Amino acid sequence: MKTRLVENRDIDGILAIQTACPEIAQWTERDYERVARGEMAGWVGEEESSVLGFLVARRVVNEIEILNFAVFSEARGRGIGAMLLRETLAWGATFGAAQVILEVRASNCAALRFYERHKFQIVGRRARYYNEPVEDALLLTAKLG
Ligand SMILES: CC(C)(COP(=O)(O)OP(=O)(O)OC[C@H]1O[C@@H](n2cnc3c(N)ncnc32)[C@H](O)[C@@H]1OP(=O)(O)O)[C@@H](O)C(=O)NCCC(=O)NCCS
Repeated sequence: MKTRLVENRDIDGILAIQTACPEIAQWTERDYERVARGEMAGWVGEEESSVLGFLVARRVVNEIEILNFAVFSEARGRGIGAMLLRETLAWGATFGAAQVILEVRASNCAALRFYERHKFQIVGRRARYYNEPVEDALLLTAKLG
């Protein structure tokens, strides 16, 4: 298992993970082409040429915002999510990021447990933020450095 930057050849694998994962934002192929071009930061977790997980983030001044993040359901619980998060935080350290922020569906208990273990705290709630189905978002942050 290794992590590396997203490339165009990863997009089909990323879309397959995303389609099987309704709790995350459903981005288009063009969105991921932008990631591969470096307009956003993105990494995949890869094993034997298969993409098993991905994380996309962006820099907002001195913060990291996690935009989309998932691991193939059958590969969860093996530390791939933790590896992708570590890679993201290491990237943030290169520009002195002070914190990492993200939104998550209020019902997404697995993700909330994951973030809690990685020292995130719930700092806000955005009512009816998501569609299909309509649901509140929880705003999470973790201080860095
Ligand atoms: C959140 C997510 C990316 C974490 O990825 P992951 O590769 O499972 O993460 P890790 O393996 O590093 O950590 C998962 C934890 O759950 C435990 N776990 C065990 N079996 C598991 C399983 N079958 N599924 C999920 N987690 C499991 C792991 O032991 C680990 O706990 P630990 O940190 O105490 O060791 C993944 O659950 C996911 O893709 N969820 C759906 C998409 C999503 O919600 N994305 C976030 C939206 S903001």
